[in-house]
Amino acid sequence: MAVDLLLGLQWGDEGKGKIVDVLTSNYNIIARFQGGPNAGHTLVFNGRKHVLHTIPSGIFHDDATNLVGNGVVIDPVIFKKELDKLEEQGVDYRKSLLISRKAHIILPTHRLLDAASEASKGKAKIGSTLKGIGPTYMDKTGRNGIRVGDLELSDWKTRYRALANKHESMIAFYNVDVQYDLAELEKEFFEAVKVLKSLKFIDSEEYIYQAQKSGQTILAEGAQGSLLDIDFGTYPFVTSSNTTAAGACTGLGVSPNQIGDVFGIFKAYTTRVGSGPFPTELFDEDGETMAKVGNEFGATTGRPRRCGWLDLIALKYACQVNGVTQLMMMKGDVLSGFKTLKVCTAYKYKGEVIKHFPYNIDPENVEPIYTEFSGWTEDLTEMSETSQLPKALNEYIEFLEKELEIPITIVSVGPDRKQTIFRGQLVS
Ligand code: GDP
Ligand code: IMO
Ligand code: MG
Repeated sequence: MAVDLLLGLQWGDEGKGKIVDVLTSNYNIIARFQGGPNAGHTLVFNGRKHVLHTIPSGIFHDDATNLVGNGVVIDPVIFKKELDKLEEQGVDYRKSLLISRKAHIILPTHRLLDAASEASKGKAKIGSTLKGIGPTYMDKTGRNGIRVGDLELSDWKTRYRALANKHESMIAFYNVDVQYDLAELEKEFFEAVKVLKSLKFIDSEEYIYQAQKSGQTILAEGAQGSLLDIDFGTYPFVTSSNTTAAGACTGLGVSPNQIGDVFGIFKAYTTRVGSGPFPTELFDEDGETMAKVGNEFGATTGRPRRCGWLDLIALKYACQVNGVTQLMMMKGDVLSGFKTLKVCTAYKYKGEVIKHFPYNIDPENVEPIYTEFSGWTEDLTEMSETSQLPKALNEYIEFLEKELEIPITIVSVGPDRKQTIFRGQLVS
């Protein structure tokens, strides 16, 4: 069976966790392939909200296996906290949670390095989640990292010490004010490593290969969004992994010809948390309304998310680099009550009108050109069928489908699992 992918098409927080949870009943295996605890994936069901950072969003389904792939970076301390929460809720994760031996470990000093690097950048900071993501991927590509499989070796603590010592000298080199008590952080870290080691470590690429061969269905769950991709995002204001479809191949060991459907998720408007260019960002009442009604605060850091109109140029670009086959539009309910809606359908780029995503989208180069749509006033949150959707919303959806040449098969009208409207064939 082919591996289906589910990816965010904007700057993250599109609602990936919710949709993975909704789709899990169609799959045997849910697999995270990149990112780490910088992610915050929110699931809401039975009146409760759950936020996952590293653990795949299929974990609440008894029948699904959840795999943390080789492309993910794991902070044992945060992972343990996630496990503790699951345990409190009576989720029996021991039999369903598998971890790739090739996933890299975030050390306490990676987090400190992240903080030191950001502090040294001053106003030019990335706005990182400070979870140590950048430094851990740097050690991975620099061939210095410690992997999950290394925790099974007798000398791993010696390797840990050497790397942590190196990190400490790097932190000192930054010459910024980062206060820390490494002994305290290490106490917590080694305790958490013990818990991590009680889980099942596997050679995940072999596992995925055999699962596919035996006809099991697999959904790969992306983290972050395409515009935060290390290659295709708004560099340097990006994360340190490939968040796009290709990342699922390297982050799980799945060959490109084994990819099936690519589900692309986007909000009916746009948000971004952290620094970096955002052409359709709003600084007015409309932006404030989106933030308030959409409750736009980061699930990992609690930071307010910047809000703006939908950017079709950026969305088209994300669909292209991912090969999206089906679209899912989230948070349509948040736009109820806007008299007029705007969609950016071209950029004025250095004085010229363009319709592609250019190398540089800094505000001095790019000005969005908008197409306007009538809004709707109906509350969507109780709706469950397409026939109930307001005419103006249908026009909005059909316009996007026509421009993107991809069907929108899910319209989400609220955070709950149940607030999901299906518009057509899902799993091909
Ligand atoms: P993820 O990182 O892509 O999983 O998304 P987050 O969980 O960080 O952010 C999405 C937020 O929107 C969460 O608070 C969700 O509960 C919420 N959400 C998801 N879908 C909808 C929707 O259709 N409408 C509304 N109002 N909220 C939604
Ligand atoms: P999910 O999976 C939104 C942003 C950070 C920062 C930049 C780099 O929940 O959609 P990093 O900590 O990765 O070095 O930060 O990327 N960022 C996210 N923004 N959603 C996320 O994940 C994010 N993960 C990282 O805010 O701008
Ligand atoms: Mg999130």
